[in-house]
Amino acid sequence: TRRVTVRDIAAAKERGERWPMLTAYDALTAGVFDEAGIPVLLVGDSAAMVVYGYDSTLPVTVDDLLPLTAAVARSTTRAMVVADLPFGAYQASPEQALEAAARFMKDGHANAVKLEGGRRMAPQVEALVAAGVPVMGHIGLTPQSVNTLGGYRVQGRGDQGAEALLADAKELERAGAFSVVLECVPAGLAARITAELSITTVGIGAGPDTDAQVLVWQDMAGLSPRVAKFVKAYADLNTTLAGAAKSFAEEVVGGSFPDAEHSYS
Ligand code: KIV
Ligand code: NA
Repeated sequence: TRRVTVRDIAAAKERGERWPMLTAYDALTAGVFDEAGIPVLLVGDSAAMVVYGYDSTLPVTVDDLLPLTAAVARSTTRAMVVADLPFGAYQASPEQALEAAARFMKDGHANAVKLEGGRRMAPQVEALVAAGVPVMGHIGLTPQSVNTLGGYRVQGRGDQGAEALLADAKELERAGAFSVVLECVPAGLAARITAELSITTVGIGAGPDTDAQVLVWQDMAGLSPRVAKFVKAYADLNTTLAGAAKSFAEEVVGGSFPDAEHSYS
């Protein structure tokens, strides 16, 4: 086996094949998703919330995300591993972006990086691609900009908003990005951007007509207690895990665990 590459991603768009992406932050779940055939795993800065317990993605750092990225890379053989560049690690300059990306590629063994922002990030995208780092863009609702956006809300509404988002997507393509995440945008606009771009669009809250779809795995598996309207839970891990913890607790308190079967004589 070999890992999925940017060429495979481009070929999928040519053939009109849709594909799924999930986030991953640790060895066991990354291994499960890799075995399940998920072709691209994102070590998202959503780790700020689902791993580190912050209430936004802003506090997380390269140092926080690097070990998670390395864990996902070590425990997979097939998926392309995409590392999310965290807030403050790439906005200042193309040089800063390359420094952060190089750490994810060298120490994190990532295969690509993702960064938030449209036209204003074109110099960063160009510098990374020139240095050999595949870049996934991310526009629409960009959680690192929650304070300027004024909340987690749908983006690209109205003619002006739609044209701005389309221009951002086209500029990311021109700068050399291999893919772009469209988060929380009207389905019709996501379909139009997908049709007008030659690079792959990855939707989250962007309707059915993007080339790929991504979800945070804890949302996808029903572990997250609160989720956005666009999330579909394909399992109920919260209930399953809480039930297991309660059963374990009951058996420990009641003295029925461990029994002879789970003890050494
Ligand atoms: O950090 C993340 O999980 C993401 C995806 C939801 C696209 O950026
Ligand atoms: Na992210």
